[in-house]
Amino acid sequence: MNFTQKKRLIIGISGASGSVLALELLKALREMPDWETHLVISKGGVRTLEHETHVTESQLTDYATQVYDREDVGANIASGTFVTEGMVIVPCSMKTVAGVSIGYSDNLLLRAADVTLKERRKLLMIARETPLSKIHLRNMLTLAEAGVVVMPPMLTYYNHPRSLEDVTNHVVGKILHEFGVEGKNFKRWGTEECVTPIRAMS
Ligand SMILES: Cc1cc2nc3c(=O)[nH]c(=O)nc-3n(C[C@H](O)[C@H](O)[C@H](O)COP(=O)(O)O)c2cc1C
Repeated sequence: MNFTQKKRLIIGISGASGSVLALELLKALREMPDWETHLVISKGGVRTLEHETHVTESQLTDYATQVYDREDVGANIASGTFVTEGMVIVPCSMKTVAGVSIGYSDNLLLRAADVTLKERRKLLMIARETPLSKIHLRNMLTLAEAGVVVMPPMLTYYNHPRSLEDVTNHVVGKILHEFGVEGKNFKRWGTEECVTPIRAMS
């Protein structure tokens, strides 16, 4: 039981492309008063953030409820007794995919994922690489068989995205959906926003 009443989500940012997804996820959850975010960023995650966005590590961490040192394998989120709703690794590199798939926890991000799995909580991995090698695919199969939700940040066209922001928003909406949260401006199939244009005109 979580006596704080708030729901806790662990967010891990690793060094795959797409750190803006984590930024937007943190911003979205910041608006939700019943959620806390517990953030850990790998070295690779900091590097991609600096390369791909205009946001510094300290600007990003301002959106989180609590931030952890990646080397602190004794932090709260390293223990199963610290109750959470689960964890999302976004974006998730193939190195982190490999680490989680074999239970090799040499930093806090990997340890938190390992703990999430052993406690049978939801673990979502926004695994990003292209193309994918046999090794990547095998590791992801191992993860899926262990109950991980492997969710590559795929492009979606049925919602008629007009910008990179729309594309990002859709992936963030899919992540939030996994935790029962409705994303802002998330367009679901079957709603007015996803009607086929030609049908909408007739
Ligand atoms: C700009 C940039 C983009 C990268 N994109 C990816 C990627 O999309 N997928 C991936 O698996 N690795 C990617 N890498 C390589 C990882 O950052 C690298 O393997 C790192 O060691 C991952 O460690 P981590 O999982 O602990 O963050 C990228 C590296 C850089 C510098």
